[in-house]
Amino acid sequence: MAQDTSQNVFQGKKVALGICGGIAAYKAAEVLRGLQKAGCAVRVAMTARACEFVQPLTFRALSGEHVVVDDYAPDNPDPIAHITFSQTVELLIIAPATANIIGKFANGIADDFLSSTYLASTAPVLIAPAMNTSMWEHPATKRNVERLKADGVIFIEPDDGEMACGTIGPGRLSEPERIVAAAMEILQTTSGVVVQDLAGEKLLITVGATREPLDPVRFLSNNSSGRMGFAIADAARKRGAKVSVIAGSTTAEAPAGIALIRAFSAAEMHAAVMNALPEASIFIGAAAVADYRPAQSAQQKIKKTDTEITIKLERTEDILADVAALNRDDLLVIGFAAETENVLANAREKLRRKNLDAIVANDVMREGVGFNTITNEVTVISRDGKAPIHVPLMPKTNVATIILDQVVRLRARVKPTSHQRVVNGRKKA
Ligand code: CTP
Repeated sequence: MAQDTSQNVFQGKKVALGICGGIAAYKAAEVLRGLQKAGCAVRVAMTARACEFVQPLTFRALSGEHVVVDDYAPDNPDPIAHITFSQTVELLIIAPATANIIGKFANGIADDFLSSTYLASTAPVLIAPAMNTSMWEHPATKRNVERLKADGVIFIEPDDGEMACGTIGPGRLSEPERIVAAAMEILQTTSGVVVQDLAGEKLLITVGATREPLDPVRFLSNNSSGRMGFAIADAARKRGAKVSVIAGSTTAEAPAGIALIRAFSAAEMHAAVMNALPEASIFIGAAAVADYRPAQSAQQKIKKTDTEITIKLERTEDILADVAALNRDDLLVIGFAAETENVLANAREKLRRKNLDAIVANDVMREGVGFNTITNEVTVISRDGKAPIHVPLMPKTNVATIILDQVVRLRARVKPTSHQRVVNGRKKA
């Protein structure tokens, strides 16, 4: 997310920094300094092994606070530190995090101060792992990381490079500035202090599943909950956009402060979109629109008179393609691609075929991704030549923020004219 020009939105934000045992423990001092520079009040907890690498005194001197290692230690000023400490913070960062602490967090083990703090805390958690490449790539670690991501923990993946042990590969602690930037983004989102970088924009977004009637009581539909689209709508409104949502059937709760129009079939959704489109400056097709509908919808309930019946299906209107085909230079058009194979190649093809400015691709075969989940993992591919942005598995509310960052970036660019689009061969045939 674009940084706010004033740093003091973070003034006094209470952040806990947990440090585990590893060579990278010394880099935690830089993370601490970065957080303090932004205005955060940071308290530090260390595992016993971390103290073998860096003395608690270093962090005590930097933070001006007692560093908790063992809450049973006689010198600990707070007898129930894991509760008071964990429940007063607005963000818990673990940097560096070892395979061991990740395993403990994933399995709810609370046998030291840091793991007890994790369990007792309700604050968002940001983990920056650092370990040997084989340990990072071990199926057990991968399992634990996936489980924590599904629990809503946000990870800053380790960097590739030469490790202290001499091996080359992923496992190096991410740069302290990146860790601090990710922390700022979480604090910004959770504190409700949001940059108004979509002020003046009018977002029109389709959400949820369409229903294509077979008869008065039955329909063809899909599992879309509407959660991803609603998360984008909500985040866009908080960032200053005027938001209109055209929703099919949804099970997720619609956010407040948006204009919501229900349109259940693809045809109804198409009509509602076309009606609202002249007002819009950004269109996002987040709905799972049926590609086919029954060619005839029976007027009365279909009776089970035959042993089998055949239902003829016909194509529905492609809302997204029709919007993009208008070639409006003042309209940013973004689609979704729910894929089960060749995800990026298929999404790129869809981006080109539908003449979109960007497409958000997800592999709906993966656990925790796509329909009816709280989390998502996507890749945003834009046609302006920028490298695709991979968004690892995280809550859909956070994915929405990153998608909107790309919307803001694309909006800042001058859109090519219709003529240029034809010359560049991107105009829809
Ligand atoms: N979409 C739409 N109208 C349709 C079908 C899809 O607006 N009738 C939009 C969706 O909202 C999404 C994008 O198109 O943004 C991709 O939809 P998807 O079904 O994944 O792709 P299709 O174009 O239908 O291609 P295919 O089914 O071959 O994957």
